[in-house]
Amino acid sequence: MKISVIGAGNVGATCADVCAEKELANEVVLLDIKENFAEGKALDIWEKSPVNYYDTRITGSTNDYTKTADSDVVVITSGIPRRPGMSRDDLIKTNAGIVKSVTTQVVEHSPNAKIIVVSNPLDVMTYAAYLSAKKPSTEVFGMAGILDTARYRSFLSLELNVSPKDIQAVLMGGHGDTMVPLPRYTTVSGIPVTELISASKLEQIVQRTKKGGGEIVNLLGTSAWYAPGASAAQMVEAIVRDQKRIFPCCAWLEGQYGLSDMYLGVPVKLGKNGIEEIIELQLNEAEKELLKQSANAVKSTLNILDELDY
Ligand code: LAC
Repeated sequence: MKISVIGAGNVGATCADVCAEKELANEVVLLDIKENFAEGKALDIWEKSPVNYYDTRITGSTNDYTKTADSDVVVITSGIPRRPGMSRDDLIKTNAGIVKSVTTQVVEHSPNAKIIVVSNPLDVMTYAAYLSAKKPSTEVFGMAGILDTARYRSFLSLELNVSPKDIQAVLMGGHGDTMVPLPRYTTVSGIPVTELISASKLEQIVQRTKKGGGEIVNLLGTSAWYAPGASAAQMVEAIVRDQKRIFPCCAWLEGQYGLSDMYLGVPVKLGKNGIEEIIELQLNEAEKELLKQSANAVKSTLNILDELDY
């Protein structure tokens, strides 16, 4: 197995590090456009291997895509991150150009790779990668739902004073303020969360989740990386180990949930073939309405890309 991570910034390097630590492949390649940057980060991760005990060979490359050849999975994290006051949409034009160029080179050297997009604005960058990759949509998808759900679960864990391991949840929609956490589908070891927490507390947590990315940007002056990097690595793991895990991911819809020709966060089954199934939940009217609002918000950003000569 071979995994390549494009972009050796905080998110990419964290993802590569988690892939190495978990020995998800015998080879991990980290690539960046900045001279020696990926080489340095990869070497640092490799020097940690005798301490944390893994033998995944991790190497870095300055923009030489031949080093990524024949990857099974490629994670694309390239792009500029958000600064305080910027919305994810402010990034569309710049990052779409970057994602297009990266995807084209990735596919040239690894035509069979499953592509996981992490660049922001996530839903529209996944679409940009799909347009450039010219591959089946089941092989090009985005990471957002695992991160957003992880935030939601971590906040619930603090509020309920229980292990985050015991909190299961699903969340849908775009990776932005219109995302749709679904309390009706949230359980604590099988117990509906609504039996353990007041409606108002739960609503506060839903609101905090929606702004979870922004909360970190405000604290750090740049976007998050530990949780995003680990979340992308969890998708890599599901693919390389053919785990058939059920996660919310940014997937191409062809009629599911009444939506077509667009990327949106929905629960999927992830295995060696990429997205092996899109799971359709029996949403109630209120949930359907929230999903529709989120889909409309995402669709308008996809339209920006369609109109852009990038
Ligand atoms: C976040 C960025 C990575 O949500 O989108 O933290």
